Amino acid sequence: MEVAYYQDRFLSSTDELAIPIQERGHQFGDGIYEVVRVYNQKPFMMEDHLKRFERSADAIMLQLPYSREEMKAIILDGIQRSGLDNVDVYFQVTRGIAPRIHLFPDTPAVFSMIIRPARELAPEKKQNGVPVLMLEDERWANCYIKSLNLLPNVLAKQHAFKNGCEEAILVKDGFVTEGSSSNLFVVKDEILYTTPATKGILHGITRKAVLQLANTLKIQVKEEHFSPSFLKAADEAFITSTTAEILPINKVDDVLLPTDHTVTKQLQQAFQSLK
Ligand code: PDD
Repeated sequence: MEVAYYQDRFLSSTDELAIPIQERGHQFGDGIYEVVRVYNQKPFMMEDHLKRFERSADAIMLQLPYSREEMKAIILDGIQRSGLDNVDVYFQVTRGIAPRIHLFPDTPAVFSMIIRPARELAPEKKQNGVPVLMLEDERWANCYIKSLNLLPNVLAKQHAFKNGCEEAILVKDGFVTEGSSSNLFVVKDEILYTTPATKGILHGITRKAVLQLANTLKIQVKEEHFSPSFLKAADEAFITSTTAEILPINKVDDVLLPTDHTVTKQLQQAFQSLK
């Protein structure tokens, strides 16, 4: 079953009303979040997610209400309560409950969490790939922070979906940054390219896993900025995220990419062994 948690307690269900109207997350999007995938009751790369969460908190000067060990205990308790083997754990911390003024309130931050059955992608998509649409990256300069403010991401994803695409690939100043909810990799002449982990993209945990696997598999990697035309001329391209894992791209705007996903398949296979 689904599990929900808000401010120090598990709720009776995900439908229980729990968030006060004057909540900083609700009113300002003033908070941060993480999504962790659980395979067979085992959270995948949880330590990395918690570390990134702490970095996001520091970056927005937010004092987390729990220690890393306390957060781990709540997450593991939630997974147990779900009674499910494969789930997505969503958790966030907001700057708390206080009358709406922009300045930071003097109230404690609030942790909340939702655990749901994992959203499995259709096997055909993992096998054959998905189409993507390139759009202008209209986000702010600090996309390395996993902030609750996702309006540009939501709009881009919706626009891509309306155009029959699985993901929006964002382009800033003539260079590809990342997807609306994923990181991006390109294979060209047997070299794996991905945008460097600057402040302009989220430093994805799946991205990190793929870079480690590429190292193990002796695939040459270049963390470099690249252009939309480089993506369109790719031998292979794929996106990565906690929920999508490694997902090949078969079409960029109206350009079909080659269907031979040799390197992508190698990485997909190696990724399975990490779970
Ligand atoms: N999104 N870039 C953006 C903008 C993202 O939102 C995400 C993840 C990623 C991939 O990061 P990771 O490999 O750590 O999941 C990259 C999550 C899954 C979400 O918002 O649902």
